[in-house]
Amino acid sequence: MRGSQSLESQSQVSKEENLRLSIEKLVHGGYGLAHHRDKVVLVRFAAPRELVDVEVIQEKKDYSEAYVKDVILSSASRREAPCPYFGVCGGCQLQHVDYNTQVESKESILLETLQRIGKIREVPLGEAIQSGQEFGYRVRVQFKVKNGKLGFYRWDEHEIVDIEHCPIAHPRINELIKPLKECVKYIRELQEIHVTYSPSEDKFLVKFVTPTEIDREFLGNLKRDCLPEDVVGVGDYSRLRTILNRRFWIGKEYLFIDVGKWKFRVSSDSFFQVNWTLWESFIRAVSDVDPFRKAIDLHCGVGFFTIPLSEKGNFIEGSDSNPWAINDAEYNAKLNNRDNVVFIKSDAYRHLKNRGGEVLDLVVLDPPRSGLERKEIDLLVNNQPERIVYISCNPATLARDLKALLKGGYRLEQVKLVDMFPQTYHIESVSYLRVQA
Ligand SMILES: C[S@@+](CC[C@H](N)C(=O)[O-])C[C@H]1O[C@@H](n2cnc3c(N)ncnc32)[C@H](O)[C@@H]1O
Repeated sequence: MRGSQSLESQSQVSKEENLRLSIEKLVHGGYGLAHHRDKVVLVRFAAPRELVDVEVIQEKKDYSEAYVKDVILSSASRREAPCPYFGVCGGCQLQHVDYNTQVESKESILLETLQRIGKIREVPLGEAIQSGQEFGYRVRVQFKVKNGKLGFYRWDEHEIVDIEHCPIAHPRINELIKPLKECVKYIRELQEIHVTYSPSEDKFLVKFVTPTEIDREFLGNLKRDCLPEDVVGVGDYSRLRTILNRRFWIGKEYLFIDVGKWKFRVSSDSFFQVNWTLWESFIRAVSDVDPFRKAIDLHCGVGFFTIPLSEKGNFIEGSDSNPWAINDAEYNAKLNNRDNVVFIKSDAYRHLKNRGGEVLDLVVLDPPRSGLERKEIDLLVNNQPERIVYISCNPATLARDLKALLKGGYRLEQVKLVDMFPQTYHIESVSYLRVQA
């Protein structure tokens, strides 16, 4: 249907800030991209190649932000969002488009970002690794709490949408929402509740985040009286900007999570990949590498990739700046009978610096959204490990870092989308680099 060209010509201004626009494609943030009088308009809840009436909600210098009020000519990819809170809740941006279109759009965004920021003309895009399920995939959820409501922030204001169900969360986490709402009634000034679930153990860990300490005995009673037995541990936390600080913990401090033949102990303060339906394929994607003599995994967490990778080589070192993760990783090496892997608590820079001058066949990177630090890239370029596998949750910082690595003598062999976060705009990917001969 309906080429964007022909729709463009039908665009018209209905009134001051109400416009009729043709949506060209989806872009970063899950917005539909449109143009009005040479200005970019980013439209929420739009699908690619459709004609919509929008209300402009923000005018910026370079672009306007709007949301769809009416769909005039619908995209073939548009569907009824399965979640009753979609359009109000800020957690998901893409439920109104079918899954294939979500994946295609994310691939295009990844590609364009690598071209635009990374200046990579020919991006060797491999086949995307799709999520095993579109819904019910999250085993870690952070609920917001305010004024007795439990849910997620609205997309348009700092208010909470009270929810009874979240379709992207694992069904067992959904069963926990009712008991958690009981806890909300009793804990003063509660701000957040973080839940981690292990499908293999069918057990939960729960963190309560409050500005002031919860009475320990009170929290123990609450755990016993309001929460099911499968909640094996609860913690009392405060938040300082992005950092959570533990005040105390009651019960078991970790879960065991099986991923295929691998077993991981995961403490409440360690990172673990959120989408259980991708765990096995993600490990395969990262550990399907040529044999190596020595490798290092610089953001190793609990050893999610390090331990499976250890089967492919003589020796691998994992490091992470989080001591909880390193404790788990060391435990996990023993749990999985791997004796050619060593874990070190260290930031990535220090670990790389300490390995300066050593011959490394493989370096695995999985940094936070901010990507690598410039000094880390300089060390990599100086050290010239034969291969680099770069796992990223932010295409913009990935593109910036790849640009520097390519300039430093690497060739990008392949990059693929790993659709870790269906229904949301977030883009995870894995890139494979090799030093140029
Ligand atoms: C996205 S997680 C990935 C963990 C692991 N690769 C996995 O898949 O489970 C990023 C990890 O990097 C660690 N981290 C963050 N900044 C770091 C730094 N500067 N140096 C080393 N580790 C860092 C975090 O503690 C976290 O465990």
